[in-house]
Amino acid sequence: MEKAAASVKVLKSELSKVKDDVLVVGLFKGKLDLTPEIKREKEIYDTLSSYIKNNDFKAEKGEARSVYLNKNIKNILLIGLGEEDKFNFDVLSCVIADVSRRLRDNGSESFSILLESFVNGKFKEEEAVEKIVLSCLMGLYRFTEYKTKDKEKIKYIKNITVITNSGKNFEEEIKYASTVANAVNKTRDLVNTPPNIANPEYVAAYAKSIASKLNLKCTVFDEKQIEKMKMECFIAVAKGSANKPRLVVLEYQGAGKSQKPIAIVGKGVTFDSGGLNLKPYPYILNMKDDKAGAIAAIHIIAACALLKLPVNLIVITPLCENMPSSTSYRPDDVLKAYNGLTVEVRNTDAEGRLILADALSYAAELKPQAIIDIASLTGASLIALGYVGTPFLSTDEKLAEKMNEASKKSLEKIWEFPLWQEYEDNLKSDVADIKHISDDGDAGVIIGATFLKNFISDVPWLHIDIGTTAWSKVDKGVLTKGASGATIRLVMEFLRSYKL
Ligand code: BES
Ligand code: ZN
Repeated sequence: MEKAAASVKVLKSELSKVKDDVLVVGLFKGKLDLTPEIKREKEIYDTLSSYIKNNDFKAEKGEARSVYLNKNIKNILLIGLGEEDKFNFDVLSCVIADVSRRLRDNGSESFSILLESFVNGKFKEEEAVEKIVLSCLMGLYRFTEYKTKDKEKIKYIKNITVITNSGKNFEEEIKYASTVANAVNKTRDLVNTPPNIANPEYVAAYAKSIASKLNLKCTVFDEKQIEKMKMECFIAVAKGSANKPRLVVLEYQGAGKSQKPIAIVGKGVTFDSGGLNLKPYPYILNMKDDKAGAIAAIHIIAACALLKLPVNLIVITPLCENMPSSTSYRPDDVLKAYNGLTVEVRNTDAEGRLILADALSYAAELKPQAIIDIASLTGASLIALGYVGTPFLSTDEKLAEKMNEASKKSLEKIWEFPLWQEYEDNLKSDVADIKHISDDGDAGVIIGATFLKNFISDVPWLHIDIGTTAWSKVDKGVLTKGASGATIRLVMEFLRSYKL
């Protein structure tokens, strides 16, 4: 991660005692009256109200004006929040992340946020603080690891202060938000790390080092062991690459031994060339992000350990590279999965579901209370929900309901797709028990999940397809260009409020 990641603190203070380069103040459209804290500070109040009166500031969502004060506070940045009745945490989060980046890129090294100007009656302050901290830290993320030129010119925000006179110190919220933001940003770092470096061995070593720091149990299986375990689907996908596969299993015990763990399975294809069904340019670009599910899962268990969440978790990540070569697996191959089902291969680019077939069967054998898998499984997820939301599917209504609740709280948008029985006909094979894709390509997200459903035994299961949302093309709100860290806020929220 960038060395100079910002630190966020809360300051319980009167405005008169605040000293900073910039104070960020939010205002609603058509409601340009200033907060009581500002009204108490005559000089600030006079400057701001005359600015608002004499300039055409409408407080449209995202509209920003810098007002020069040159006192303890050098500048006030007025930020439009749009109409008050449309204001919600999504708007708050987006505005704060955009403002953080804007201030950094304009050369500020620190800024303060006037909390009271960003909460209205609808919000709990605690939740607002959490969202603000997460949004600043996620919005400021950048991947600069491989830049060698002009490093000294890169601008950083060092300190962010949330100013409040509410009397609360929000310690818990800051800890939760910083830990989750850190998990997101470290996930982004590793997913952004180029595939010539972040190969299966590298990722496994990374997981091991996290585990040893946090006292997590970590088992790494190498190619020979994976072969011995008869994970033929996983091995087949890995066969085309000189970079050998690894299976990483991480365990965290935050609750009593009697509580069955939740298993999180993450797809870890460190580069997806498509294999013999080679992806053409430009579709082959960014396929280093095909490990995003595995990397998210690793950082989720790490964050749970740091926060000491009272859950038992087991993370399972099959890591491999999908490459074309004379040792590659082929369309027409028939493979025997870990659970004994035979699978007819039709297209070597649908490799994710094959490595997950084995990892899910392995997870199911451990009899966890639920399995959640996170996988950049299909390009069809783009057709389904665009870049805005992530499709998910589940065999268990309660699990789906809990994930939907976590989605609302975490601001990570997800949408459930059906697992109707009719789709199973599409996977009938002439030569094996099933084939792994359908011939027509219709309902791609659902067909992917329908295939995976064969490997979860009777364990409640929920599949999250981050094919599209693992990556962002733009800096927008909490998203920054490149790997997104998708599902971390969502699954952390799910686990935080998880009750048996
Ligand atoms: N890693 C891809 C999924 C993907 C594709 C994500 C494009 C983002 C953009 C996955 O392994 C894949 O290649 N899936 C194929 C499946 C198809 C052959 C049934 C896809 O979606 O094109
Ligand atoms: Zn693929």
